[in-house]
Amino acid sequence: MTDRSFATDYTPSSDQGGYSRLSRLLHWSVAAGFLGALAIGLLLDWLPREARGVWLDPHRTLGLGVLAFGMWRLLRRVRIGFPAPEALQPRWQALAARATHWALLAATLAMPLSGVLMTVARGRAVELWGLTVIPAWGEIGWLAATAGALHEAALPVLVGLVALHLGGALKHHLVDHDDTLRRMLGNARERHADTGSRPHASEPTP
Ligand code: HEM
Ligand code: HEM
Repeated sequence: MTDRSFATDYTPSSDQGGYSRLSRLLHWSVAAGFLGALAIGLLLDWLPREARGVWLDPHRTLGLGVLAFGMWRLLRRVRIGFPAPEALQPRWQALAARATHWALLAATLAMPLSGVLMTVARGRAVELWGLTVIPAWGEIGWLAATAGALHEAALPVLVGLVALHLGGALKHHLVDHDDTLRRMLGNARERHADTGSRPHASEPTP
């Protein structure tokens, strides 16, 4: 049976052997939008209610952008899988990284969707810079409570996931000296033509 967890076919848009330009663009734009929405969310949590208004438009704009690009990204991952890990590593580490990637992909949908549902179920319209994107249609108490609880309770989980992900990327780069971060930035070193492996940073480059 085909293992769908790694990309198995090569086309310029598939991710075998690394991340395509589209995958990198989607990763960094969704990451920037997500971290921006999260930072404003932290601020919203901390500000007094009357001072929050000015931050809601940028928060919702970033969040809805994350939803649109996040859906595209998730569909691509389901269709073409992930590229094989860049570096040899213990199985538990590869599995932990893969689980974190799926959790982050799920969060890019769950957070904006819960934000929209929470707003609408509170009987409010979803507005962006004065334009109504979804009109108000009345309150639904249980849905507002459930979506609101998810949107708020997720905060520590998200901070933990992002810290784990960032820590992993930095460990690969600074401790293992492999190309995991470089290939996501689009400047991985050339592979050895004969072995298909990349020269290790501590080895002299041929
Ligand atoms: C990547 C997407 C998003 C992330 C990471 C995110 C995160 C957060 C966080 C951490 C908070 C603070 C929660 C707290 O009070 O403890 C918050 C608040 C809020 N978010 Fe989001 N959010 C996202 C998208 C959205 C979207 C798309 C909407 C609406 C369309 C939205 C509407 C709100 C509102 C109204 C609040 C204030 C909550 C309140 O007053 O009870 N969020 N968000
Ligand atoms: C500045 C912060 C970030 C850095 C340095 C970073 C770095 C990386 C690196 C190096 C990889 C490749 C890992 C591998 O090949 O094993 C990766 C993949 C991934 N990252 Fe990030 N990342 C950051 C922020 C984020 C954020 C905020 C999210 C979620 C919203 C995210 C979601 C993902 C996902 C889902 C993957 C798997 C590949 C893909 O589908 O694009 N990253 N990241």
